[in-house]
Amino acid sequence: MSEIAQLTPGPRQRHGSNIGQPLTRADGRLKVTGAAVYAADNHPDGLLHAVIVPAKIARGRVTSLDVAAARAHQGVVEVMTPENRPPLAMDPYEKSNPLMFRMHLLSDPTVRYAGEPIAVVIAETLEAAKEGAALLAPRYEADTPEVTLDAEPYTPEAVGPGQPAEATKGDVDAGFAAAAQVIEAVYETPPQYHNAMEPHAVVARFDGDTLFLDMPTQGLAMSRMRIAGLFGLNPENIHIRSPFLGGGFGSKGSVSSPEALGILAALLTGRPVKLVLAREEMFGPVGHRGQTRQTVRLGIDAEGALTALDHLTRAATSRFDDFLEPSSGVGQSLYNVPALHTAHEGVRIDIGTPSFMRAPGEASGSIALESAIDEAAYAAGMDPLAFRLKNYAEVEPISGKPFSSKALKECYREGAERFGWAGRPLQPRQMRDPSGRLLGWGMATAIFPAIMFQGNARAVLRRDGTGVMEAGAHDMGQGAWTAFAQIAADSLGLPVEAVDFRSGTSDLPDAGLAGGSSHTATAGNAIHRAGAAVIDKLASLAVADERSPLFGAGNVGVVAREGRLTRRDDETATESFADILTRAGLEEIAAEGQAASDAAAQEAYAMHAHGAVFAEVAVDPELGQIRVNRLVGAFAAGRVINPRMVESQYLGGMIWGLSFALHEKAVHDRRSGRIVNANFAEYRVPVNADIQGLEAILVPEEDPHVNPLGIKGVGEIGITGTGAALANAIFHATGKRVRSFPIGLAEVV
Ligand code: MOS
Repeated sequence: MSEIAQLTPGPRQRHGSNIGQPLTRADGRLKVTGAAVYAADNHPDGLLHAVIVPAKIARGRVTSLDVAAARAHQGVVEVMTPENRPPLAMDPYEKSNPLMFRMHLLSDPTVRYAGEPIAVVIAETLEAAKEGAALLAPRYEADTPEVTLDAEPYTPEAVGPGQPAEATKGDVDAGFAAAAQVIEAVYETPPQYHNAMEPHAVVARFDGDTLFLDMPTQGLAMSRMRIAGLFGLNPENIHIRSPFLGGGFGSKGSVSSPEALGILAALLTGRPVKLVLAREEMFGPVGHRGQTRQTVRLGIDAEGALTALDHLTRAATSRFDDFLEPSSGVGQSLYNVPALHTAHEGVRIDIGTPSFMRAPGEASGSIALESAIDEAAYAAGMDPLAFRLKNYAEVEPISGKPFSSKALKECYREGAERFGWAGRPLQPRQMRDPSGRLLGWGMATAIFPAIMFQGNARAVLRRDGTGVMEAGAHDMGQGAWTAFAQIAADSLGLPVEAVDFRSGTSDLPDAGLAGGSSHTATAGNAIHRAGAAVIDKLASLAVADERSPLFGAGNVGVVAREGRLTRRDDETATESFADILTRAGLEEIAAEGQAASDAAAQEAYAMHAHGAVFAEVAVDPELGQIRVNRLVGAFAAGRVINPRMVESQYLGGMIWGLSFALHEKAVHDRRSGRIVNANFAEYRVPVNADIQGLEAILVPEEDPHVNPLGIKGVGEIGITGTGAALANAIFHATGKRVRSFPIGLAEVV
């Protein structure tokens, strides 16, 4: 991956340090010239093409497949069905941790959701595979599916990736009894599908017991373990390359059935196989954000202070696995409230299993809760920002812990100032633009936990004055390569150009999952530690050697900068890395670093990134057309490694929030259970023409507790807050409170 370490330095703000600089993307040139090799771009010799055959019913069983007709088609090599699917080393239904999803993998003829793979056709060309698939002409015995939230609910033990389903603090009944007013409302969020531009893809090649995979993944090590378990392979013998992802958003965190089926097809045929999903095939087997129905109750006293908060979410999961969108949790950390209760209930319906999708829980939960907070502000007769400041949490409500850092007040202030919030009339329908459209201003709070997993990295210093940093990290398009190369260069005391940053394969040290907005914290701190460890080794060589000008300085008495070690107390006592290694007779030295979240700090502090989003909408009073004029987000998320990448993450997140409020919705046909808009024409996401006036403000925040580099995540927070800010702006424009998302034209006139 050395080619992607060719960084273009941007304007320098602080001399001598790469961290904090707005470097342009390390992989930018490769991407804009089409030179970046994505998984599906690989064509090993003897390659076969596989397609999945998705079920056209949502519940029942396959009664016949015309395998003979498909096999007889020119170019078709094999048809994989439950009859001939190669045996696996473990039942794909088994699940040993909550990040693992149950899979079917042609285990039987049962159909559990529309789009479930019922066969795989493998051919010499993609066209032949598709034609063979069409000839299979499946017949079904169909049962009546349930695809709505109206099914009988059950009480789950856990939601999301193993979070408690219910939490209580204080006396909620007493809190509501003490309230001057109780605001209660029900919000609905639809099923949403990740729809990364790059579909799920795998190119699989066996060489004996060794498996080579080109496959986009947000979790190299996790994917390797999952595949090792399924196929009974030694993890060391599985080599996954994932240098670039065309987006993941949570859907590429866990191995899903299409990738596993691609590997099975390679096993069955004994030849390399490529399997790439078509757009419509991504609506089912690779996860989605499950639909929710959320009931929020807020008690407020005569002064507008919250007395109680109750948030109940009903969420959907599949018939065969558990992933409930953890929407109710968001209020546990947001506002000062003496009593709160958050709970979830599940319904099992005939859909593919929901999974992590950008800000799982926080996105769907905050659009409901922050709408309810806006409703409460109106009930209290208060400005929505003043209401939030009145209820500002100085400690985390659920735990009573202080925040490791919380620059939310600064976010409110800077966002409001930039937006011009101060001139806002309190009542709705007070503003119009020159063409007569209703104008509305709304705002909401953004929050996302600062998460960190365990990660590793390995650093090398070479006699020629260059360095290497190896970390099996993931660039999903967020700019990870660039930010990590910056951290690597600073940790090694080298310019970025002198560091060969290697990443994106499972053969490198496991640098942790790219999920939960944790990757920069996890891999970044591991890289920082590996760099410090190799510099420490180098310093030991110098300070113990009488021939070095650094002799006797002690390891802590020297600093690494521009390829040299220099005494902290005497700038003239300095020696190049190259000289130190040459004298020691070494070509290179290496060291490893590991980072993980600090249990003691976790115990002592609540750790979150915060933000405030302000929105202006224009609504046509006759047609209901909604136009987003302006969106200003101000976010504080600890140390910023690269402001250009961070701003881009915030803007991308805010566009997702806009999409949540106004565009995205998968629509099920209730009779067949199929999704009727499984394509980019009808599953609406914002296009450039929908986006204008976007601005992200990076509010400075220093966090001495969250991790050594003080990094919080930035990938997911932008989607939180934004959706509700828009819903609240639409209320301010029209006086119509829409509680079902996305907000449509018909509901606002
Ligand atoms: Mo994310 S939904 O943790 O990739």
